[in-house]
This record gives sequence, structure tokens and C-alpha cells, in this order.
Amino acid sequence: MSKREMKGVSIRGATKRYGQTVALKETHLDIKPGEFVSLLGPSGSGKTTLLGLLGGFVTPSAGSIWIGNKDMTYTPPHKRDIGIVFQSYALFPHMTVGENVAFPLRARHQPKASWAAKVKEALAMVELDGYQERNIAHLSGGQRQRVALARAMVFEPSLILMDEPLSALDKQLRESMQLELRRLHQRLGATIVYVTHDQSEALTLSDRIAILRNGELVQIGTPQELHNTPKDSFVADFIGDATLLPVTRVDSHQIRLGSHTLTSARPVPDATELFLAVQTEKLLIDSAAENATANRLEGQITDTIYQGNSVRVCLRLQDGSLLTLRQPTHYAACQQLPAVGERLQVSLHPEDTIVVPRCT
Ligand SMILES: Nc1ncnc2c1ncn2[C@@H]1O[C@H](COP(=O)(O)OP(=O)(O)O)[C@@H](O)[C@H]1O
Ligand SMILES: [Mg+2]
Repeated sequence: MSKREMKGVSIRGATKRYGQTVALKETHLDIKPGEFVSLLGPSGSGKTTLLGLLGGFVTPSAGSIWIGNKDMTYTPPHKRDIGIVFQSYALFPHMTVGENVAFPLRARHQPKASWAAKVKEALAMVELDGYQERNIAHLSGGQRQRVALARAMVFEPSLILMDEPLSALDKQLRESMQLELRRLHQRLGATIVYVTHDQSEALTLSDRIAILRNGELVQIGTPQELHNTPKDSFVADFIGDATLLPVTRVDSHQIRLGSHTLTSARPVPDATELFLAVQTEKLLIDSAAENATANRLEGQITDTIYQGNSVRVCLRLQDGSLLTLRQPTHYAACQQLPAVGERLQVSLHPEDTIVVPRCT
């Protein structure tokens, strides 16, 4: 399977209501050809509904869905040229691996003579060539998910949709499948829309991530954009590993946190309720920070938790607010870490001093 003409996707003012329930508020979303976009949000936030609009399983209450340059709003799923992978593999248990992968070719009435070569190619992509005659029942969970992937790609769709395809797998397998998906995407140049509630998965895979909450697309951006300029307290809390502390606005670049005045490199939003969103890894123990412009905070260590790849340190500031920082566990860093009960000075760079309004 070669790199092919991939199609972009455009959701234009689509909404979905079920009776009184609004599953998806008015949504506008443009996805570029070849882009990998994740839909990330808690359970019930509207991810599957949005994916269903693209796949054609869900008809919008208003608005339209465009794939390539065509209005596909009322086109049934099998005529949309889309490959789909769900959480449950949805493979046919009574068919062999090869028959499962050939199924979309049969359904699309492609000439039978071409099936074997296409199946072989699709299976090779997921490193399962040679498994054609195997029984589905004898495969591991990871192998089944790879068969499901091969089946979604065998007819060279212009768009691939995936709904939590790895969530049934254990952590180790999930992580290796994530890397495999990443490589596959790079190799195929496929347009992929991927539903997940796991932020690390979204970060690993995506060019851009769309954050959903209560049926609303709150923000879409690259992983860096979401980290550095979260739109509100929901995004700041959902992305990364942050502590949110209430602060007051002093001026366009300064805030007050208890007795501390902090400078932010970015404009402080002009809202009544503001939070400082501090990512745990952005706080540096002061002796290591030479930067004179950095914000300084001082508190008492209430807890240190060794977590293998990092140490979490909980710090109580003078006004009582609790801050968490994460330190590397190499020898030098551990040496400079005071004991529980002792005072600690930390610094936060103005570029890492992120202030967000409360989500509405
Ligand atoms: N067929 C349906 N009938 C009624 N309500 C639905 C239906 N599908 C989804 N919903 C509701 O729409 C909201 C969004 O659901 P969904 O898109 O499945 O969320 P997610 O995939 O993010 O968990 C939820 O409140 C859900 O209960
Ligand atoms: Mg869902």
C-alpha cells in the first residue's frame, strides 16, 4: 500500500441532540489531509458522537459533514470510503484472519483475483503476514487488534476512524501498539481521527488534539499549544500533571498568589476567577535555577513520594495552598532534596507561569 491521496475533513456547524440531551453542541472542525487528530475528553463528553458524524452512524441534528470536497452529511457509512477500528475488535470469529481482512474487499465487490495480494500487503503492514489461515480465536488481544487494523486499511480508505482501539489491551501492549500506529501513520500518510480518554496516548499519537467537555469542543491544538496556552481551567487540568491554584490579577503580566507576586510572560486574562496552572515538572528547586527573572515560591515540604522515574514533592505555601513538583530521581537531584518538614525554595519561569480563567 503506497502513500495515497488522503482527504481532509470538515465539520461545519454540526450538532447532535437526542430528545432533550445535547450530545454535541455546535462544532466546527477542519482536519487537514494526512493529519492525525485525537478527540480527547472524559466519558460522556461527545467523542463517539463526533466520530459517528464522520463515520455516518450518527446523523447531525444541524450542520454538515464534508470529506474531501464532498458534502457527505447524508451519505451512508459504506459509501464514505472510511476504515473503522473500534475498541472491541468486531472481527468475525468463525472466519480466518485472511477472510476477516478480505471482508471489506468482498463487501465492495472488488475483483476476487486481487484479494490475496491486498490481504497480504495489509497484514504485512501490521507484521502478521503468514497468519492468513489462522483462526481468530487463537490470536492474542494485540494480534486481534492488528487484524482489525489491517481490515480497516485493506481497501485503502481516504480516512481512518478509531474509537479507543487500544483501551482493552494491557499497558505494555498498548504502548507498543501506540508506537506501531505512529509509524503506520507516518508511512501511509493517512488522515486519522482517533478517540481516546487517555491523554498520554493522545500526546504520543497526535498532530493535534481536540479537547471535548460536556458535548463541547473546548480547544484544539498541538500538544505544545495545549500545554503552553490552555484556554481555561478545564484544559489546564486535563492536560499534563498540573496543580491549579486560585490567584488574583495585579496587572496584565502579574498575579498574586498568597504573599507572592508572580510575573507571567503571557498576558494575564481579564477574568474574575483566575487560576495559576503549575505543571509539576516546571518547578525547579531554587539552587539549580540561576535565572534572576524567575518567580520564587517558598514553602514547607509536607510529603515526598518516590515514584521510580520521579519524586513527587508536596509543598505547603505560606497561605496554605498546596503545590506539587516532580523531581528527577538521579543522584544529584535526590541529594539536594530537603527532608519532610523542612523549607524549600522553588522557582517558576515566567514562560511557565500559566494563568487561566475558570471554565464556564
Ligand atoms: N443514542 C443515544 N441516545 C441518547 N443519548 C445518547 C446517545 N448516544 C450518546 N448519547 C449521550 O450523548 C452524550 C455523549 O455521548 P458519547 O458521544 O458517547 O460520549 P463519549 O464517547 O465521549 O463517552 C452522553 O451524555 C450520552 O449519554
Ligand atoms: Mg465513546
